[in-house]
Amino acid sequence: MPAVGGIVSDNKKEYPGNLTPFVMATCIVAAMGGLIFGYDIGISGGVTTMPSFLRKFFPSVYRKKEANQSTNQYCQYDSQTLTMFTSSLYLAALLSSIVASTVTRKFGRRLSMLFGGILFCAGAIINGAAKAVWMLIVGRMLLGFGIGFANQSVPLYLSEMAPYKYRGALNIGFQLSITIGILVANILNYFFAKIKGGWGWRLSLGGAVVPALIITIGSLVLPDTPNSMIERGQKEEAKTKLQRIRGIDDVDEEFDDLVAASEASKQVEHPWRNLLQRKYRPHLSMAILIPFFQQLTGINVIMFYSPVLFETIGFKNDAALMSAVVTGTVNVVATLVSIYGVDRWGRRFLFLEGGTQMLICQILVTICIAAKFGVDGNPGDLPKWYAILVVLFICIYVAGFAWSWGPLGWLVPSEIFPLEIRSAAQSINVSVNMIFTFAVAQVFLTMLCHLKFGLFIFFAFFVVVMSIFVYFFLPETKGIPIEEMGRVWKTHWYWSRFVTNVDLPYGGLEMGKNGQPVKQI
Ligand code: BGC
Repeated sequence: MPAVGGIVSDNKKEYPGNLTPFVMATCIVAAMGGLIFGYDIGISGGVTTMPSFLRKFFPSVYRKKEANQSTNQYCQYDSQTLTMFTSSLYLAALLSSIVASTVTRKFGRRLSMLFGGILFCAGAIINGAAKAVWMLIVGRMLLGFGIGFANQSVPLYLSEMAPYKYRGALNIGFQLSITIGILVANILNYFFAKIKGGWGWRLSLGGAVVPALIITIGSLVLPDTPNSMIERGQKEEAKTKLQRIRGIDDVDEEFDDLVAASEASKQVEHPWRNLLQRKYRPHLSMAILIPFFQQLTGINVIMFYSPVLFETIGFKNDAALMSAVVTGTVNVVATLVSIYGVDRWGRRFLFLEGGTQMLICQILVTICIAAKFGVDGNPGDLPKWYAILVVLFICIYVAGFAWSWGPLGWLVPSEIFPLEIRSAAQSINVSVNMIFTFAVAQVFLTMLCHLKFGLFIFFAFFVVVMSIFVYFFLPETKGIPIEEMGRVWKTHWYWSRFVTNVDLPYGGLEMGKNGQPVKQI
């Protein structure tokens, strides 16, 4: 029986090709799509702690917070309209990622990115100019539509463009730009909150126009991926493009495989219904479970609400925003570690190490909060060292996420789907991610109020489950060309029961240079 995460390695295919400046440049521009997502994740938490913003749109929360200085800290922000402001975006993103699947498949990855950028621009302008809560929510929904398009298309674009040996690193460019977006949003909140007259939140929300313009203009200058061009019948152009991207003339082997994958995908009329076929069971399971687990790490409790959380554990408003900047910086730096390691150490190692690190920190944070806040949420005077310790544990937790589930939650799904279901399966991935991002955003403040310190244990439980899942069920995908991915299922101890040779390209035969079969996988 093959090893738990193992693959047969002696018949690996190697396509020639370099990491050309051309491919680097296109991937950097495309990865900017993550900026709009990240900016948004980071901006809402800070804005909702700005007193002028709360007074204007959520007066009841504002009054409760003012009146509630010394009583139950766990519940001061518990308001359904306030969470609706944060989470409405993710509902919209969920819906649009489904539409984006068709656009991405029929019209190319680029056009989806363009739509994403334009919708996001509109949302940012409405939010910056908001006069009532409904404008805030409409604006956030437009931002959400934009994000649905971008998150559907950018990871696919990156994985298809990249030479397979560098696919992990280039794809994580997307996550890196998400984390940069979050950090920039945290820094801007810190400064804008200080603006006299209390209109800084308008700059915070309206500032989203900048990343939106970057991806809009970027998508106009980017080339489409060869995979997508072949899929849309532009074979000749696709080959020339592939030669340009790889920086060599001899791209025949890779090109032929792309064409074969595209032919296979043409047989498929209903990509959605198709996903239910037995041979796609591993893909479907991953498309659902990976984003589910990513959100159940609890990361967005920190990303959305860290200023709120830090205020709850005793920081002043200013210090709370500053601590969010600190966690944001750790998030960016740790993502760089992942870029360095993902194609060297592999996906499974990062998942398992990151999971263990997160688990330990969640337990430590629970102990800290339980010790001081108890069940009544009334901490008395909190010493400074205590708050610093909590921030430190939270930083180590964020680092664990940032080199494991953060980037890999987008990378792994984008590299495992065969072309014929790629777009549809990626939509499922984005939708599930958004449903659970929504759920966590929507219930977190209420959960904090009721579960109190137990909240962190809730997420810690899921971290244990997901690590066990990775250990037994996630095969290693490092260094395998995308169109060859079928073999990792075929050789996996569990998934092999769903995937047979007939389901693989060329019936599972390894093809040699001359187009003759060499051996059976
Ligand atoms: C997740 C987001 C999260 C972010 C944090 C992303 O991969 O999808 O939900 O907020 O990482 O860096």
